[in-house]
Amino acid sequence: MAVTQPNGRLKGKVAIITGGGGGMGGAQARLFASEGSAVCVADNRFEAAEQVTAEITKAGGSAIAVELDVRSADAWAEVVARTESELGPVSLLCNNAGANFRVGFEEQTEEQFRLIMEVGLNGAFLGIQAVVPSMRTAGVGVILNMGSLASIRPGGGSPGYAAQKMAMVGLTRSAANSFAKDNIRCVIISPGHVDTSFIRGNNEHSPNSWATSIDNPDNFERRLHNTPLGRLQQPEDIANAFMFAATDDAAMITGSMITVDGGAAL
Ligand SMILES: NC(=O)c1ccc[n+]([C@@H]2O[C@H](COP(=O)([O-])OP(=O)(O)OC[C@H]3O[C@@H](n4cnc5c(N)ncnc54)[C@H](O)[C@@H]3O)[C@@H](O)[C@H]2O)c1
Repeated sequence: MAVTQPNGRLKGKVAIITGGGGGMGGAQARLFASEGSAVCVADNRFEAAEQVTAEITKAGGSAIAVELDVRSADAWAEVVARTESELGPVSLLCNNAGANFRVGFEEQTEEQFRLIMEVGLNGAFLGIQAVVPSMRTAGVGVILNMGSLASIRPGGGSPGYAAQKMAMVGLTRSAANSFAKDNIRCVIISPGHVDTSFIRGNNEHSPNSWATSIDNPDNFERRLHNTPLGRLQQPEDIANAFMFAATDDAAMITGSMITVDGGAAL
């Protein structure tokens, strides 16, 4: 992990990063901390959040791990209160937590559809509501939502995922419009095919079998073939875009989508 720069690009910032124990959330947490932000690593898999936090503190950064199920408004209130008291008012929020069940329209159960929406969409909505008062205290804020190729065209292997990631565009634009007056920006960042456990492993929130995992060379090759720049993205590729959007380099960017997909949506 990069050496922490106390005077880095995010000096004085306080970030809450959901899905912070995961591939992309973890990469954001490490990068933000290395650039001087204090980071609250939030995940419903507490041990995964603790592991990322341990790496950050070992490198000289400032971080706390919290257990958070993004579907609970009460849990959000506790996490924001704890972050404020231990790190200070929240100035950055990264909504990464997501779920997917890769089955077609006629096979997807109501329970699966609801879970995808509740984690990805309701979770981000509740997170935004929870942090905005803290961002007003900070006097500045940036909310970064995780999109997908499914935010651009139907896909992602299931109707719930297609609906959730398209709806994230609307949520981003609504938040951007509502909170610009508070000096709070909101941006959606849409990756292509990112080599994480989400599309490789068999997780509770994102099950994969041999038929869907990129451990299967056929699936890996298909995703590679669909990426004009010739490689899958790494979590760090996406974290770099989150970093850009979090800084004043993006001071006039709000309500927009940034795609980081190697051209996969073309
Ligand atoms: N990997 C890809 O190719 C890809 C592409 C585009 C978008 N995405 C999106 O990126 C986001 C992050 O995924 P990733 O690839 O880093 O996968 P990941 O599985 O490594 O990380 C997802 C994290 O979300 C956490 N999570 C799940 N449900 C939660 C809940 N209810 N409350 C709190 N945390 C919860 C998981 O524990 C996990 O740590 C997701 O929203 C996903 O839809 C992934």
